[in-house]
Amino acid sequence: MASGKILVVDDDPNLLELVKMRLESADYEVTTASTEEGALGAVKGQAFDLSILDLQLAHRDGISLMEELHLVLPGMPVIILTAYGTIESAVEAMKRGAYSYLTKPFDPRDLLFQIERALENRRLNSEVQRLKDLLSERFDFSNIIAKSEKMQKVLEAVTQIARIDSTVYIHGESGTGKELVAKAIHLSSERKANPFVAINCAAIPEPLLESKLFGHEKGAFTGAIRSTKGLFAQAHEGTIFLDEIGDMSLPIQAKLLRVLQERQFYPVGGEKLVEVDVRVVVATNKDLEAQVKQELFREDLFYRIHVIPVYLPPLRERKEDIPSLADHFLKKFRQQMKKEVKGLSPSALQRLMLHDWPGNVRELENTIEYAVAMTQQEVLTEEYVLQTKGALSNEPLKPLKEARDDYEKNYIIQLLEICRGNVSKAAKMAGKYRADFYDLLKKHNLKTENFKKPE
Ligand SMILES: Nc1ncnc2c1ncn2[C@@H]1O[C@H](COP(=O)(O)OP(=O)(O)OP(=O)(O)O)[C@@H](O)[C@H]1O
Ligand SMILES: [Mg+2]
Repeated sequence: MASGKILVVDDDPNLLELVKMRLESADYEVTTASTEEGALGAVKGQAFDLSILDLQLAHRDGISLMEELHLVLPGMPVIILTAYGTIESAVEAMKRGAYSYLTKPFDPRDLLFQIERALENRRLNSEVQRLKDLLSERFDFSNIIAKSEKMQKVLEAVTQIARIDSTVYIHGESGTGKELVAKAIHLSSERKANPFVAINCAAIPEPLLESKLFGHEKGAFTGAIRSTKGLFAQAHEGTIFLDEIGDMSLPIQAKLLRVLQERQFYPVGGEKLVEVDVRVVVATNKDLEAQVKQELFREDLFYRIHVIPVYLPPLRERKEDIPSLADHFLKKFRQQMKKEVKGLSPSALQRLMLHDWPGNVRELENTIEYAVAMTQQEVLTEEYVLQTKGALSNEPLKPLKEARDDYEKNYIIQLLEICRGNVSKAAKMAGKYRADFYDLLKKHNLKTENFKKPE
């Protein structure tokens, strides 16, 4: 069986023949082309694992041909052949995405060695991708948008901690997705078939919270006309999510501590111990450590719940997520409202990118909901996006360099979104060389993989 399909492009028929023979005897499947048309025709019908290109083709330079091939087969390693030994053009080719180069005349063993190395490299990359896909398949996080590296890291951590039973402590600003992540942890755990019970400790009036959590016996207090099972008991064999745990009063904290230590408790007014098997996930948008210092939160409880911390970064620190989140919410609301809305106009998206999002993802969700509700057109224009707040108006002006860097980063994110992570295309649209474009990606710490989508 062939160990790889290789396309060789050179206008010298003797060289083509020679290379073909060599590679075939090394078990590769070889297609040759002596013109650019031939090369472009070949990649229309089939995929190649690697290609070898002469830099000085008769009618065209090999670099632009390489870029065109990369549009069809992104990620295909290309080895450049150069007749004149002019290092500059070969270096330029490498900058623009070639894997390596050889100067003519070359030792066929060098060629074989480079081919092997390039293919091995590619195999490793696709193996990593396959494992990543497997991971995301096994744990269904498809409803969580995580393009940015920061959110990818969060999901990786969540994947690892889902299977174990330790208490998870999710913290982050309001609207960053804490509840969503708590649910994902439950759904990825072995408890997923059992209940997920959520309670917002800040939303329940203090006197009721205790009986809500632990249940009560009939007659335990005025109005307790029948005994009730508490949420801890309802969550038996499942997960209990204690949201806004920082709002819990000190007496209830004491009771919770005991439950966490012993997994058993007395219902309010009850004398019979209730035993439960629950996994506990807590969330807070407060700085609990500061609350511990102020003695508003028990230190021992803090250490009990602070076993595995998960931090959700604010949206303004991961703006790469904005285009996909906007798209995600757009699809959600157009379906709900049965409206034909296809997308966002570039200037509307830009407005979203420039906003600071104090309310994080929830604010973005509301923004899109409003725009979808209001629009009469198929495309959401800036008119309905963040109009009242104004994208820039109430933020203090930044120094020019910072503002320019922000703009540049947002611009590149949009380009990559449009080009689905294809650097050749994105660089072309930006009017930049690939190498310079890569420098920009590095400067802003952006990864093209995060923008790749299946067509
Ligand atoms: N990464 C994400 N992908 C898709 N939707 C998200 C994401 N993060 C948040 N959301 C959505 O944004 C909204 C707010 O998220 P969530 O309620 O989980 O935030 P929260 O951190 O619990 O907020 P709060 O502190 O105000 O309770 C929800 O509708 C949630 O589904
Ligand atoms: Mg919440």
